Parts: sequence; structure tokens; C-alpha cells
Amino acid sequence: MSSEIKITFAKSGTTLEWDPKFETLLDFAEKNGIVMDFGCRSGNCSDCVLDLVSGEVEYLWEPEVVPDEGMCLTCCTVPKTDVTLNA
Ligand code: FES
Repeated sequence: MSSEIKITFAKSGTTLEWDPKFETLLDFAEKNGIVMDFGCRSGNCSDCVLDLVSGEVEYLWEPEVVPDEGMCLTCCTVPKTDVTLNA
């Protein structure tokens, strides 16, 4: 199933349609060949943090580390709107 939400990976120059079958933005990126840093995959380490260039994300649970304004933890978020990430 697809959605109308577009995810743009700015550094990679790739825009893809978000597929809600993926649990997180990190999973979605990896399955589409976008290389992203990660560690715990559970909101505890912030290794997966990226600039959220535009758009809004939703946290699936309250992460241990709260990212600064304009950043997002890709291991525990899904997009709410079209999103551009600096990846
Ligand atoms: S991978 Fe550790 S917070 Fe996302």
C-alpha cells in the first residue's frame, strides 16, 4: 500500500512515496538503499538523528533522548506530512 506522503532524502537527491507498511523512517530509508546512521533503534542513543529540513513527523513512543528543534530521530518516527531529511 502506498500513501500520498513524499519523503525526500536531500543529500541523496531521492524522493520516494512513504509506504505505511514500514514501521519507521529509518526502516523505510534502509529498505530503499539510503544509508543512515543508527545505534539502538529504540530512541535511546540519538545516533539516528537527522535534520528535519521540512515537514512533520510523529513519534511512535517517547524517546529517551529528545532531539533539538528541527531534528528528528528516524528510528522511532513516521511522517505526518511530506518530509525532507538531510540524508
Ligand atoms: S538509533 Fe538510537 S535513538 Fe535512534
